[in-house]
Amino acid sequence: MVLYSFAKLNLYLKVLNKRKDGFHNLSTVFEKISLCDKIILKSRRDSLIKITCQDADVPLGRANLCYKSASLLRRRFQIKQGLDIKIIKRIPVGAGLGGGSANAASVLLGLNRLWQLNLSRKKLAEIAGEIGSDAAFFIYDSSFAQASGRGERIMPLKKAEKLKIWHVLVVPKLKVSTPFIFQKWDELSRKGELTTVVSSAKLTTLALTKKGFPSLGKALFNSLQEVTIKCYPEVGEVIKALSGLGAQAILMSGSGPAVFALCASRKEAVSLKGKLKKKNRSWRVFLTATGHMRPKLTER
Ligand code: C5P
Repeated sequence: MVLYSFAKLNLYLKVLNKRKDGFHNLSTVFEKISLCDKIILKSRRDSLIKITCQDADVPLGRANLCYKSASLLRRRFQIKQGLDIKIIKRIPVGAGLGGGSANAASVLLGLNRLWQLNLSRKKLAEIAGEIGSDAAFFIYDSSFAQASGRGERIMPLKKAEKLKIWHVLVVPKLKVSTPFIFQKWDELSRKGELTTVVSSAKLTTLALTKKGFPSLGKALFNSLQEVTIKCYPEVGEVIKALSGLGAQAILMSGSGPAVFALCASRKEAVSLKGKLKKKNRSWRVFLTATGHMRPKLTER
């Protein structure tokens, strides 16, 4: 079984507070984008779960979110069959693009069919939420969704389904740990060292569902951006470089270090990507668009 697993961007991400379980309550708006991984599931004769991946940054054992998904379903539904999971990685790992969570959701969706579990989307989203905070979003077909809780309570934005946005996505070669950035957010907000910004996801969802592309730029926000820039100034350099080249709507995704700029057309995005590539050869630069149907849109 061949599956495509798409990355996400956070168009809005507000950290609300730290919870007793150590996670943080968030208000966020997700967008699925055309950058994707390919996952191949194959039944085994024995009862093992084996992961293979060409990307050395992907863990191959129990820490792998695809492994976690398959083993959780096997335990819960008493499946004996083993499984080979081959991950062909294109989504940068640990970049704030939700690649691991997307892969986990793909495996849940795939095994629901392969093992004929007949689980509803709601049930699959619940299981996905146990595996990763971002994973539930990838269970739904929608390109855009608002989310709350840890990020696992999903409200698809059906009215935005026709919207297609182009982005230039820039990923500096940095390893950013999500728990570390949340910990830093705790520390800096306790000390009152973070800028107070009045913002609401409502502005972002309104721009997506009613007002359209031009108003989206002003509705972008991410509480973690300031924190990640303090720890990794290179993220600030990416934003500066994009801004210097004329991009107006720029934001870091998740806990970073991926940064995206919204573009009004493919042509604009191609031109911006070309100029940006010359700025710093170590930055990975992608041209992406809203969507989860057309792997051909993905370009390096
Ligand atoms: O759920 P996920 O594996 O993506 O989260 C990774 C880590 O990021 C968590 O262990 C936690 O430290 C932090 N996190 C958080 N609040 C969230 C999501 C993630 O504190 N809502």
